[in-house]
Amino acid sequence: MRFERMKPFDIVIVGGGGAGLYAAMEAMKTNPSLNIAVLSKVYPNRSHTSAAQGGANAALGNKAKDDTVEMHIFDTIKGSDYLADQDAVDVLCSEAPKIIRELENMGTPWSRMDDNTIAQRPFGGAGRPRCCYCADKTGHTILQTLYEQCLKKGVIFFNEYFALNLSVKGSRSRGLVAINMKTGRLEAFPARTVILATGGYAKMYWNRSSNAAGNTGDGQALAYRAGIPMKDMEFVQFHPTGLRKSGLLVTEGARGEGGYLINKNGERFMARYAKEKMELGPRDLVSRSLETEILEGRGFDSPAGKYLHLDLTHLGADLIKSRLPQIREMCMQFEGVDPIEEPIPVRPTAHYSMGGIDTDNLTRTVMSGVYAAGECACVSVHGANRLGGNSLLDILVFGRIAGHTAAEEAGRFEPGNISEAELKLNTDEIRGSMHSSGHYERYGELREELGQTLALNVGIFREASLLKKGMQDIAELRERFKRVRVFDTSDVFNTNLLQVLELRNMLDLAETVAAGAFAREESRGSHTRVDFPVRDDAKWHKHTLATMVKGDVSLGEKPVTMGRYELQERTY
Ligand code: FUM
Repeated sequence: MRFERMKPFDIVIVGGGGAGLYAAMEAMKTNPSLNIAVLSKVYPNRSHTSAAQGGANAALGNKAKDDTVEMHIFDTIKGSDYLADQDAVDVLCSEAPKIIRELENMGTPWSRMDDNTIAQRPFGGAGRPRCCYCADKTGHTILQTLYEQCLKKGVIFFNEYFALNLSVKGSRSRGLVAINMKTGRLEAFPARTVILATGGYAKMYWNRSSNAAGNTGDGQALAYRAGIPMKDMEFVQFHPTGLRKSGLLVTEGARGEGGYLINKNGERFMARYAKEKMELGPRDLVSRSLETEILEGRGFDSPAGKYLHLDLTHLGADLIKSRLPQIREMCMQFEGVDPIEEPIPVRPTAHYSMGGIDTDNLTRTVMSGVYAAGECACVSVHGANRLGGNSLLDILVFGRIAGHTAAEEAGRFEPGNISEAELKLNTDEIRGSMHSSGHYERYGELREELGQTLALNVGIFREASLLKKGMQDIAELRERFKRVRVFDTSDVFNTNLLQVLELRNMLDLAETVAAGAFAREESRGSHTRVDFPVRDDAKWHKHTLATMVKGDVSLGEKPVTMGRYELQERTY
């Protein structure tokens, strides 16, 4: 394993999804003379943003003329179970109409209504139909648009690079060290500023997740190890409709277009849980409802586990083919079911990380020169439960803010500088895992056990005894990880090594998720404690902060920023 040095950059962006690309484009626009690099583990147009199907919320008022930004703000705060910071939500929702039109001007092919304005569909927890979409391939089309713009503006891409560690001196970062996956070389990326935009960590739930294999929380983990606090990590969103076998996403857009959820008795069971909103309740509520139907014996049985039906058959072939073509294709390929003819077998699936790197509204972290945006960050605009359609919006709005802020502030920082000795330390750490001898552990076993314990003990319904078991399992897995062996000792595209590094990231973060869930003795949004079933504003209307101290998690707290909206009971 060799190492190499890059010349210093003004901004290094880690992550080539929507947030990273928007940041790169905006930084170039803000100051075209800057030297900006994007490092991405995959080719940017394969980033997980491409899996976002349903759309992005913006109060354009095309479908519902009386929709307003204020309604969007209120729906988001209520959806968050009042844990979102209200000033941040103001930014998110106020910027939404502008950013959707900006994308339109750059060429994003939004679906249209008959009058040719951008089409909008109903989404869960929203008072008006305000989700703008491109059939069921919204993230994919946005990603293509942004990638084209970045190439046009001269952003430098380092594709198939895996970021290992931030280089830190005192309270500031000097850049980072990454592995060039194609050669196995460690490369130093000295930089004045670093933007982390690596997406979420819900893939730690293994096959009970809608996430891409690469959503292993790499950006969060490297920030966490560098001493940057993680906020609200216990809040993991389960999407109600993952495909039964694979956990892959069936967009909320399918329910937005009129799909029904049905149990084995043929009931539209959402009438029991959200009389008014039915299938279009917020995600936390709908996921809990599916899980309850299954736990109470009203799910269907199959060798792949229990499930429920999402029925689109009454929508007709034309609508399914034009608005939900990808869903149809996925159902046929992964379940052998054509939704035009038969209901889709679904179950809840870990989908989104509300928690992440603690930032202010300008995406700054506590470490000078380090910024974070998108799912990797926690501003917080989603609080305890994100509304569908606010995730694409988040990456766009806060990706843009990150790019602008870093470009404006880069000049304040010295050029980054990473020493030979530091590179050698990183190399030695990796060599250690590749050549561990004596009794060893296998990656695959640890990976699977992590997914299982999270799904069983830190899932939709939580309680102290389960969470304790989860924490104990995770602690043991972290201990066993010290003896993990990388069997492939070659340099070129060593996927065995990369998986081990991803596992280290997931194990570090899993500890923060379970510890936060154990500490938070209340039920709020996606976090449901059966032993503390009520929201406890007096004790728990606050964010949790998880910081790494001597290798382990230490919990602190931070107040929620309130605004126009007082705490209220949340009913749908
Ligand atoms: O259901 C969906 O299409 C997912 C959208 C989202 O997570 O925002």
